[in-house]
Amino acid sequence: MAVRKFSYEFDGVSYYRFSVYRLGSNVQTVYTFVLDDVLIDTAQSHNRENILHVAQKHDIKKIILTHHHEDHSGNVGFLIDELKIDAYAHPETVRLLKRGLKLSPLAKLLSGSVGHAHLLPLTENSIIQTANYNLQAIYTPGHCKDHYCYYEANKGWLFSGDLYVADKIKYFAKFESLLTQIESLKKLIALDFDVLFCSHNPKTKDGKQRLKNKLQFFEDFAGTVTTLYNQGHNARQIFALMGMKENYVNKYLTFGAFCSENMVHSVVADLKKQKLAHKK
Ligand SMILES: [Fe+2]
Repeated sequence: MAVRKFSYEFDGVSYYRFSVYRLGSNVQTVYTFVLDDVLIDTAQSHNRENILHVAQKHDIKKIILTHHHEDHSGNVGFLIDELKIDAYAHPETVRLLKRGLKLSPLAKLLSGSVGHAHLLPLTENSIIQTANYNLQAIYTPGHCKDHYCYYEANKGWLFSGDLYVADKIKYFAKFESLLTQIESLKKLIALDFDVLFCSHNPKTKDGKQRLKNKLQFFEDFAGTVTTLYNQGHNARQIFALMGMKENYVNKYLTFGAFCSENMVHSVVADLKKQKLAHKK
């Protein structure tokens, strides 16, 4: 296993790229961010020594997580114990990490395992203060139920976790909700920011436009799925009618947990829930 890291600076924010390589190829990259003595996210446990080096270099005193996923939480328990510091996250993240994460063999291969960790709950909209910055926890579900973005209003920065990733995406995890992500994207676009510190694809300018592009893509996608669903088609048929192409390597390696068709399934599942709620 080979792991490498790269560091970047932007206007006082230090951020680090942590990749995992398999058979010479980069199979997973995630970024962590440092503001004064606060660390946002902790990378994959495969990068344990690298994140420890970063945390010691910046004399990190506090950790905040965007959500519980293994590429963000992989070293949180280790850093809490090693550095004798506290870590904060959404109450659901706290609950999930208390018992540790149950990961698939593939997720363990890509990120490494995540043992139990004792974090402290952070309520929605609360402010994390550093020497120079104020970070506001913005609840933004859709990628998962426990997702926070962190907003620095004075600087116009948004630490967006996994809510952006790219203007257009091709694959969706089974646990994601596309319609909920649309609502979260709208909530973020109402904020005043230009820098988008995305956990997988940071954009140091025109960040809000990138979120607008993602919102437009999702709204167009959801609109087409809704029209076809209302015409009586099921998710499989809608996927075919939209001319979408599946990546069968992804689909079979993950037993369907991560594939293109999940984007359609997500919208259809939410439309069914909306119909049921309407009937009640
Ligand atoms: Fe994630």
